[in-house]
Amino acid sequence: MNNRRTLLKSILAAVAVLLLPGRLSASDTLAPTPFLTAGPFYPRDPSGLPFLPARTTLPEPVTNDLTRNRRGEPALGQHILVSGRVMDITGRPLAGAVVEIWSVNARNIYLVEDGGASDPGFAGFGVTATDAEGRYSFRTIRPGGYDRYFGLIRRTAHIHVLVKLAGGEPFTTEMWFADEPRNSIDSFFRRVTDPGLQARMAVILNRSDGFDQAQFDLVLAPRYAGRAG
Ligand SMILES: [Fe+2]
Repeated sequence: MNNRRTLLKSILAAVAVLLLPGRLSASDTLAPTPFLTAGPFYPRDPSGLPFLPARTTLPEPVTNDLTRNRRGEPALGQHILVSGRVMDITGRPLAGAVVEIWSVNARNIYLVEDGGASDPGFAGFGVTATDAEGRYSFRTIRPGGYDRYFGLIRRTAHIHVLVKLAGGEPFTTEMWFADEPRNSIDSFFRRVTDPGLQARMAVILNRSDGFDQAQFDLVLAPRYAGRAG
């Protein structure tokens, strides 16, 4: 009897999940992904650090594949596929969002720091747009963390992400890696204490279709979601 009741409960729970609407109700919203600074090494408009100047140097064409240069030469390091969805706080997909990423190369140097000399195969910067379901994807490398100023700035491994939607403010944040030992020494990482947000921002790589893949979803607060939000 008990078993039957348990089974019935499980079936009812499964049916309830199936009946859930695709969109959350207004009172049940998703926590927005935290805004984090673009930092001084954004390739389109780098500011650099004092004594560590940066230069604008964008290789063309810019695509969503950062793992090879225009001559087809491959980037050093572990190649990964990053994909995900951009949505508003109700879970509604945001189509037509411009998504940009940039990170250090496999030698932990930004493109704007050395013009790509330390790894000419790594594009350093990529751009794409979300489709009707709010989906985007990039091929890139898994970057390492870096120190600057003899360890005064200590960062864990991260990929910078910028999202732009018509009518919204530009949104910048970072993607992290759940198994990265340097997470514990990074002040940006440690500031995100909510376990759900941390799980969304610190990805776990899964091997699938010959690629190490990461899923990184972005939830945009209304001021960034633009006219669609
Ligand atoms: Fe950075």
